Amino acid sequence: MKYNYLFRSDILNREEAFELLKEYVKEDSLIKHSLAVESSMIAYAKYFDEDIEKWSISGLLHDIDFEMCPEEHPYKGIEILRDKGIGEDIIHAIKGHGSKEEERNSLMAKTLYAIDELSSFVVASALVRPTKFEGLKPKSVKKKLKTKSFAAAVDRDQIKESSQDLEMDFNEHLNIVIEGLKNREEELNKEGLSLL
Ligand SMILES: [Fe+2]
Ligand SMILES: [Fe+2]
Repeated sequence: MKYNYLFRSDILNREEAFELLKEYVKEDSLIKHSLAVESSMIAYAKYFDEDIEKWSISGLLHDIDFEMCPEEHPYKGIEILRDKGIGEDIIHAIKGHGSKEEERNSLMAKTLYAIDELSSFVVASALVRPTKFEGLKPKSVKKKLKTKSFAAAVDRDQIKESSQDLEMDFNEHLNIVIEGLKNREEELNKEGLSLL
C-alpha cells in the first residue's frame, strides 16, 4: 500500500519557495516585485496575526508563471504550485489576484489583491526620493497616486477598491505597506538583495 501522499509536504518553506521562484523567473524586476509583494504580505500577516510563512509564500509565488506564460497567468502558476503540494489556501489567494472577476473569500486573498500593485507603486515612490523608504509617508504616496503621469500603468481604482474590500482605512493600509517594505529592505540588504 502506498501512503506516500500522507508525507507530502503541504507547503514548501520560505527558502524552498524562493528557490522555486528563481527557477521560473529570471527577470530582476519580477524578482523584486515578488519580494516587494512578499514584504507586504509579511507585514499584513503580523497585523492580522496570521501565519507569516504562508502569507510570505503566497506573496513570493503569486507571479511565478508571469514571465514564462503571461497569457495563462495565474493559472499555469497554480498548476506548478499544486504539483509542489502548496496548500489550497495559498492557491485560492493566488488565483484571486489574477483578475477582478475571481473570487476572494479569505483574508489572505483579499490582502494579496490589495497589496500586489500597491507594493510596487510604493517601491517606485521610494526610488525617486533621495532617502528612499526613510521618511516616506502615506501622504507622499497619496500625492503620487494623484499624479497620473507617475507610474501611469498602475490602476489607481484597483488600489482604492481592493483596500475597501479589505475593510482597511486607506492611510493605515499605506502605513502597513510602507513600514513592511522598509523593514524588509533592511533584512534583504543583509542577504545582498534589495527591493529598490
Ligand atoms: Fe499577477
Ligand atoms: Fe504581482
